Amino acid sequence: MAAKKRILSGMRPTGRLHLGHLVGALSNWVKLQESYQCFYMVADWHALMSEYENPKDMRENSYEMVKDFIAAGLDPDKSVIFIQSHVPEHLELYMVFSDLTPLGWVERCPTYKEQLREIKGRDLTTYGFLGYPVLQAADIALYKADAVPVGIDQVPHLELTREIVRRFNSLYGKAVFPEPEGLLTRTPKLLGLDNRKMSKSYDNFISLSFRSSDIRVKVATMITDPSRIKLNDPGHPEVCNVFSYYSIFADPDSLAGVRKNCESASQGCTDCKKNLAAILIERLEPMNLKRAKLSDDDVKDILKSGARKARQAAAETMAAVRSLIHFAQE
Ligand code: TRP
Ligand code: SF4
Repeated sequence: MAAKKRILSGMRPTGRLHLGHLVGALSNWVKLQESYQCFYMVADWHALMSEYENPKDMRENSYEMVKDFIAAGLDPDKSVIFIQSHVPEHLELYMVFSDLTPLGWVERCPTYKEQLREIKGRDLTTYGFLGYPVLQAADIALYKADAVPVGIDQVPHLELTREIVRRFNSLYGKAVFPEPEGLLTRTPKLLGLDNRKMSKSYDNFISLSFRSSDIRVKVATMITDPSRIKLNDPGHPEVCNVFSYYSIFADPDSLAGVRKNCESASQGCTDCKKNLAAILIERLEPMNLKRAKLSDDDVKDILKSGARKARQAAAETMAAVRSLIHFAQE
């Protein structure tokens, strides 16, 4: 049997994971465990690029993120789950890549300007932040990943990764690194509760660790079809964010009923939202039970064994890289 292809992906521990992370990435990561050899990391060095002024929550966010990973179904016996900074080789390869990446490539990267605009209350005009996608390229190449599951927003970083590894391979005359392919998550984008982009700074999300009561309160605040003013005004599910949540989280067979009840005004929005809250609670409850069973020590054990496995792969790659750049080996 051919060896399984490798995957690497990561998330930044800048806060708690929410439903957007679950449908946009995590559920997909869980599925991919069956057909790929997966490396999933907590990208703390990337988080530090924006949180350097106030990194006090980094450890807790990292541990909570790993608990969410496990609760969602990542299996440490199948996937390598680790923290980026526990594998120092990321920074070594980042340095090599920094030397061969033309300045124009990072300056032109569309996500750079976008993030400068979008991330408020942080000074991101730093030397480190410009190198964000170069470190991401090193993350991927270090494990010789063949594929990277990413959201559409990360596509420019993947393209840059491909250019950087191509340049490395051509400079040093060897196909050391595969050009990773992007595995785009096909789930439709989940908007925030207020119809804006789901984001920590808008407080418009449902965390994976919310209690049932929080979920009910949050769902009740969702904006519905604005033309349904009176109970017997017919609604338009296609313009209603509540309905788009149904289409992602509800049993597909039940959708026609929800649509009919809305269009015929036989159900009011309050009840419709109550039912949605119940669906979300049912979805998150098994995750909450699983998370509650995990202690910090369990998480530390998972991370220790993850870092050991990751370092093994990383050390192999770096030995080859060091030899190609003619660094003396001990
Ligand atoms: N930039 C990614 C994000 O914000 C996180 C990340 C860091 C990543 N390194 C990676 C994703 C390597 C994929 C592969 O979502
Ligand atoms: Fe949206 Fe449901 Fe109200 Fe229809 S009934 S507008 S789908 S919340």
